[in-house]
Amino acid sequence: MLFFAKAKRQVLPHRFNNVEFLSEENAAMKPRFVLPAVVSLLCGLSAAQAHELPEGAAPLEKSEQCAACHPTIFQEWQESFHAKSSVHKDSAHKAMHQAFSKAMIAKGQKANYHCATCHAPMSDNLKALMSGEAEPDSSNTTQVEGVGCTFCHRIEAVNKGKSFDQYTLSKEGAYHTSRPANKKAPHQTATSPLFTDGQVCMGCHSQYVNPHEVPVCVMTEEGKGNCISCHMSPAEGSPAVGSAVKTHFSHRFPGGHDQDILQKAAALEVKIETKGKERSISVAIKNTTEHTFPSTNPMRMAFVKVRAKDKKGAVIWENFKADPLQEDKQAVFFKAFKAGEKVGVPSWEAEAMAFDTRLKTGETRTLTYPLYSPAISEVEVELFYLLFPPKAIEGFGIPKDGVNDKRYSVAKKSVKM
Ligand code: HEC
Ligand code: HEC
Ligand code: HEC
Ligand code: HEC
Ligand code: HEC
Repeated sequence: MLFFAKAKRQVLPHRFNNVEFLSEENAAMKPRFVLPAVVSLLCGLSAAQAHELPEGAAPLEKSEQCAACHPTIFQEWQESFHAKSSVHKDSAHKAMHQAFSKAMIAKGQKANYHCATCHAPMSDNLKALMSGEAEPDSSNTTQVEGVGCTFCHRIEAVNKGKSFDQYTLSKEGAYHTSRPANKKAPHQTATSPLFTDGQVCMGCHSQYVNPHEVPVCVMTEEGKGNCISCHMSPAEGSPAVGSAVKTHFSHRFPGGHDQDILQKAAALEVKIETKGKERSISVAIKNTTEHTFPSTNPMRMAFVKVRAKDKKGAVIWENFKADPLQEDKQAVFFKAFKAGEKVGVPSWEAEAMAFDTRLKTGETRTLTYPLYSPAISEVEVELFYLLFPPKAIEGFGIPKDGVNDKRYSVAKKSVKM
């Protein structure tokens, strides 16, 4: 229902096995990972699913303790969403967690913060947060830290889980990278193959499957590229004070909040096609990431706006005015869940995928619009990206702070007739 005729035909030369695709009402699809969906874990979420820090392990040092010698990397990290990932710093995550908690309590279940396994993994009371025995507490600095330096650099193994994956951290305090032990460092370092192929990211970014077994996010099926190559590009500046090396791997981790990486997400091609007396415009959108676009969080949305103008520059036709989902669904790249016949439910209530029209890895989607009016002299096409659709912002009380509600321009083209 919420689906689109045209997009349906053009969709998915996708690459996953066993994925049926869209019947009009019911798009069964294997999504990727993360997200508020996560949420659903609620029941049966046992503390055993927390990361393993072996008995007698060295404590996880605070990220601030790395700042004096790794100032450039520290500053990048501090500005990244890895440093702002907990309920104490990310207002959107906090709003979603509150909505989740309310839903649990309404069902007579205990609220919990199982989200912490990915959003606040350094918490010294992680298991208690996940089981609901403890509530988030902003005076506990280990919770506020988010995805800190020592968490990533002590990852030793990624363990598959049913709903999501977990990590085993190293017992001794050496910091792992892809390189051999570094004698120039005043602390121990060690080699781990997980830092070569990007698998180090996958304990948090691989999957989230809700209790109805709806795959809310499954990056392992949506993307095969090396995460580090695109999300940690080399940047100017030494990795450590006094180091002879002049560049380092950026720790800004750009994603949906970053205009520059978004502009690398898709290529837009616009062509006028003439058949006899009929003219139409064809808009091809190619996914240039190595995973689905938009990626990850099921609330991320992209859409194409098409405007036809006359000689004076006045808009005489546009593909939608207010809401692309209602007015021109084929131009929207988005996924939604359903429960019974209700489409658009939060991931923790999802019983099935309602539809998924995001661009698959490597996919090019082509949209066609007839240009009836001879008065049209220019057509302008723009691809936009939203972190959260306006309805989610309203529905979940996500603060409109200029971050959560920002509209990003991914690509723009115009053609003269
Ligand atoms: C007293 C200074 C100092 C402190 C504090 C420090 N480091 Fe380092 N670290 C270094 C130096 C120097 C290097 C080597 C740089 C080079 O090879 O040029 C290094 C290298 C590293 C490397 C890369 C190893 C490799 O493979 O080349 C990692 C990872 C690392 N540090 C993590 C951390 C983390 C995490 C912290 C905080 C918990 C931290 N360091 C605190 C000085 C420090
Ligand atoms: C301990 C869990 C964890 C690990 C390990 C982890 N991430 Fe993340 N990552 C998160 C969470 C949680 C967020 C969402 C933070 C938020 O916005 O609240 C996130 C967000 C991101 C974003 C989006 C940033 C934005 O602006 O929206 C990117 C990109 C990213 N991570 C890349 C990586 C890469 C690459 C790796 C591996 C080198 C990695 N992550 C490892 C948990 C993790
Ligand atoms: C070819 C480059 C490329 C590779 C490889 C790649 N990404 Fe991305 N990624 C992008 C671009 C461009 C975006 C911004 C568009 C988007 O959100 O889909 C992005 C977005 C993201 C986001 C942001 C989601 C959000 O909602 O803010 C996350 C998280 C992410 N990628 C994780 C990963 C992980 C994990 C891997 C490895 C499995 C990976 N990426 C591999 C290019 C890449
Ligand atoms: C989300 C996981 C993650 C977090 C958080 C993280 N790192 Fe890294 N770091 C990596 C990865 C992946 C690499 C690439 C290393 C490689 O090739 O081995 C890396 C590389 C490094 C290097 C070597 C840099 C170079 O270019 O040679 C240093 C030093 C380092 N990190 C320090 C830190 C410090 C300090 C922090 C906190 C301020 C931090 N890291 C936070 C994943 C992370
Ligand atoms: C299995 C790991 C995992 C769990 C568990 C998890 N998340 Fe996330 N979450 C992520 C990752 C990774 C991202 C970054 C990718 C993205 O932005 O799409 C993210 C991003 C988000 C975002 C977008 C943040 C922003 O600033 O735009 C929200 C909101 C969110 N999660 C809510 C939740 C809530 C609420 C819970 C618990 C009820 C939860 N997540 C549990 C991994 C997880």
